[in-house]
Order: sequence, then structure tokens, then C-alpha cells
Amino acid sequence: MIQRSQFDLRKFVAPEFICGYGALHLAGRYARNFGMKQVLLVTDPGVRAAGWAGAVGESLTEAGVSFTVFDAISANPRSRQVMAGTEAYLAGECNGIVAVGGGSPMDCAKGIGIASSSMRDILTFEGVDRVPVPAPPLICIPTTAGSSADVSQFAIITDEGRKRKIAIVSKTLVPDISLLDPEPLTTMPRELTVDTGMDTLSHAIEAYVSNASSPMTDVHALEAIRLIASALPAAMAEPDDLNLRFSTLLASLHAGLAFSNASLGAVHAMAHSLGGAYDLAHGRCNALLLEHVMAANYDAASGRYDRIGEILGQGRATPAEGAAAFRKTLGITETLAEVGVRVDAIPALAAAAHADPCMVTNPRSLACEDIERIYGHAL
Ligand SMILES: [Fe+2]
Repeated sequence: MIQRSQFDLRKFVAPEFICGYGALHLAGRYARNFGMKQVLLVTDPGVRAAGWAGAVGESLTEAGVSFTVFDAISANPRSRQVMAGTEAYLAGECNGIVAVGGGSPMDCAKGIGIASSSMRDILTFEGVDRVPVPAPPLICIPTTAGSSADVSQFAIITDEGRKRKIAIVSKTLVPDISLLDPEPLTTMPRELTVDTGMDTLSHAIEAYVSNASSPMTDVHALEAIRLIASALPAAMAEPDDLNLRFSTLLASLHAGLAFSNASLGAVHAMAHSLGGAYDLAHGRCNALLLEHVMAANYDAASGRYDRIGEILGQGRATPAEGAAAFRKTLGITETLAEVGVRVDAIPALAAAAHADPCMVTNPRSLACEDIERIYGHAL
């Protein structure tokens, strides 16, 4: 059991952000305010096809800011993609970055920022507070409601050589401003809506039970859980409803403010390991692990989990059962085995998860054998 005190020292870092309809059209004004003359516009092919990168480009042009587009980014962005973007940034003689997209382009943009300012390979920044030189100004415009990369101190990059994700955690990764606009969310396909929503829920739950939580992060974590529990199923039923989409964006914002400062836990440590090895969608990995980690952690933070269970509702006996019921109502019914995870891969997955920085703030200290058992339950 973790003994918390309201007098524990805690910090709270948040970027400037503008939230509301039409926010993305402010990109040009803020790029100019930051003194950007030549921007690397970081996005991905899907966001470009949906028209959102073009809309931001128009805003930059209207403000007299030149830009080069870099969109060679996949889901679970790879280290070589970050370094290709870094080359594009340096070759283009850019002096600022605008990221438009979900977690992948935003994390990649953060990586490009620190790799270009330090002139080092992105993999050398793995861990907490290991970025020596500030990055160039960064504007983030999320087109999903889940990663919260637009407010967080985190960037997650896949190390292709070792087939695992590395976590980079540093205040230098907090964007200079984020423009949170509900309209781009309307072009998210159903699966992306569900997966990013479950990422939001996982961020909020892990931040609330984290052993680095604080009264400041608790407020945001609980509000995120409340919002996502009501708005996510409704937004899936009415995907064009801007009010519902805005609620999921607010949930993601609250969850991001919570986890960026309280950090995460075993769900994310284990999801990073899974996503690195199998290239699975991050939010889906969280969704398939969440209830099993909640059950394993319960005794270490029972009061907090009970509060989460009350908010999630679902009329279930335990908070873990409530989380399981919630994901099933969203149509996530598969197991890890059904997405291709093999039982003989579990020891290596557990070893990588055990070494992930997110494991440090899990409310219960987990040995590799404990982590193997949790993967086994999710199989
Ligand atoms: Fe996440």
C-alpha cells in the first residue's frame, strides 16, 4: 500500500493551449508569433488525405510562413522516421515545427525537435530528463482524442533494431502551444475513435492510481474518466456530433494533464512492450491489458480503484470487471492471442515491460513473473 500525503512534493507542467471550434486555423498566427519563418509541417498520409494538413498549411501561408511537409510516418513511429524528419528539418533550414495528426506524427515531431537541436540519434534520449538542449518551437494540432502528446512531456518511439518502444520523458517535449479543435475528430474512423478513447481512459486511470499522483492530477484524472465514460460510447453512435467529439477531446486533455505530471503504470509499460514487438495499435494494446492490470494492482490502491469503478458504472462487482464491460460495449472483444501474441513470447515481453519507465509509478511493485502472469491472463 502506498502512503500518500498532501504534502508530498509535486510539480505540474502544462503547455499553453487553445481549445475550441476553429482553433487549428490559428496555426499561422502562432507560428508567426513564435518567429517561425520556415516550418517543418509534420503529419501522416491519412491526416493529409483528410485535408487537415492542407488546412493548417493554408493558415501558415496566409500568415506569410513558409513550410515543408514531412509525412513519411507510420503508426508506432520508428526511430529511422524521426531521423529522416530530422534530416528534412536541417536540410530545409527550418526554425520551427508544426505537428498535425494523432500521437504518431506528434511524437515524431517531438523527436525531430530534440534530435535536430542536439544533433544526436533519437535513441540516445531514452529515459527521464535526458534532453540537454531545448527543442525549436513546436505547435501541436491533434486530430485524434487520445494520445495527449499535445500536452504531455512524453514521446514514444519504436526502436526497430530491438523491436521495442522507448519512452522519452522530458519537460523539453511539452509543446509551446497546442490548438485543440473538435472538427478534425469527425474524420476519424470508428476503430481509431475506440482505440484512442481507450488510450484516454488508460491514461486517466493510471494517472489516478500512480504513486506520483497529486491533488492537481487527481482532479484532471477523475474528470477525464467521467467524460470518457459518458462521451465515448455516445460519440461512436453519433460520430458527426461536434459536441460529443469535443467532450472526448476534453477528456483527452484532462487525461493528458494528469498523466504528463503523475506518469503512468503497468498498462502502458506492458502496452509499449507489446506495440514494439507486434506493431499493434497503442490504444488497443491498452484496452486488452487494462482490466488485468487493474485486478493485479487492486490491493495496492483499493480506494482509488473503487472510485474509478463507481464512475465507470456498468453495475459490476469489481472495478476491473467494470473496465472489461466498458470495453466490450465499445466492441473490443478479442484477446491477446487473437491479435497474434504467442505464449512463448511472454517472458521477453515482460522483461521489456519491467524496464519501461512507466513501471516506476505503478502503485504495486511488479516482478517479471507478476508481469508474465498478467500477460497470461490477457492471452
Ligand atoms: Fe497512451
